[in-house]
Amino acid sequence: MIGIFDSGVGGITVVKELKKLIPDLSFVYLGDNARAPYGNHSQELIRQYAQEDVDFLLSKGAKVIVVACNTVSALAGDFLKEKFKVPIFEVITPAIDSAISVGSKRIGVIGTRGTIASLAHQSAIEKKSPQTKVFSRACPLFVPLVEENWLSRKETKTIAKAYLQNLKIKNIDSLILGCTHYPMLKKIIQEKIGRRVRLIDPAEATAKALFDFLNNNPEFFKKQSQQDYYCTDVGGRFKELAEAWLKEKIDLKKAEL
Ligand code: DGL
Repeated sequence: MIGIFDSGVGGITVVKELKKLIPDLSFVYLGDNARAPYGNHSQELIRQYAQEDVDFLLSKGAKVIVVACNTVSALAGDFLKEKFKVPIFEVITPAIDSAISVGSKRIGVIGTRGTIASLAHQSAIEKKSPQTKVFSRACPLFVPLVEENWLSRKETKTIAKAYLQNLKIKNIDSLILGCTHYPMLKKIIQEKIGRRVRLIDPAEATAKALFDFLNNNPEFFKKQSQQDYYCTDVGGRFKELAEAWLKEKIDLKKAEL
């Protein structure tokens, strides 16, 4: 059983990619939407929340953890890998590997304030490919725009243009969409950053990494297709958004952390 968590509903974009690659994957998903967004929280708080999120998934029988949240991956990824014995996948390493593997030399990174301030992408890229230049930009308005479903509104285009202008003039060749919600804005982002920039979707890259891992470690793969969804505040719009993104009905339960 795979345990997947995010600060809220955004991690459903990772679930969507996982279901595309491994339709009969058994998993339990946790969205901590009662305490979201994580993007502006301190590292200390994010580590505490992330630890509680992982404990919850382990209590539900998870044997592998997927940190779908970019902010948690950036600020608590190493912390979780040290703390827990189970295999932990985060979304930053697969995204970086994917950008480097296609030969990117000027990589743009966008994400929440927390993710960008952590410099997690920079330091990981520096270690793997020191000659590669990294340019980053926090895009905090993208999360509420996606949650409002303003995916092709002119206001969203204006904001995207303002956010991406500085990266565009840096002549980047790849752009990492370093936040769960940003893949929902792929069309607008591609339009504003330019057609020749390759968009790197961490959800796709992470799904591929987990797929490879499960192929090599079949003992972690349970094929009974148990797919459970939990969140910490069932009263909000989690169910509506998750069902719209997954294009299927889900049975949402309340998690007590
Ligand atoms: N899931 C977060 C991320 O990928 C975005 C939403 C939040 O700030 O909690 O960074």
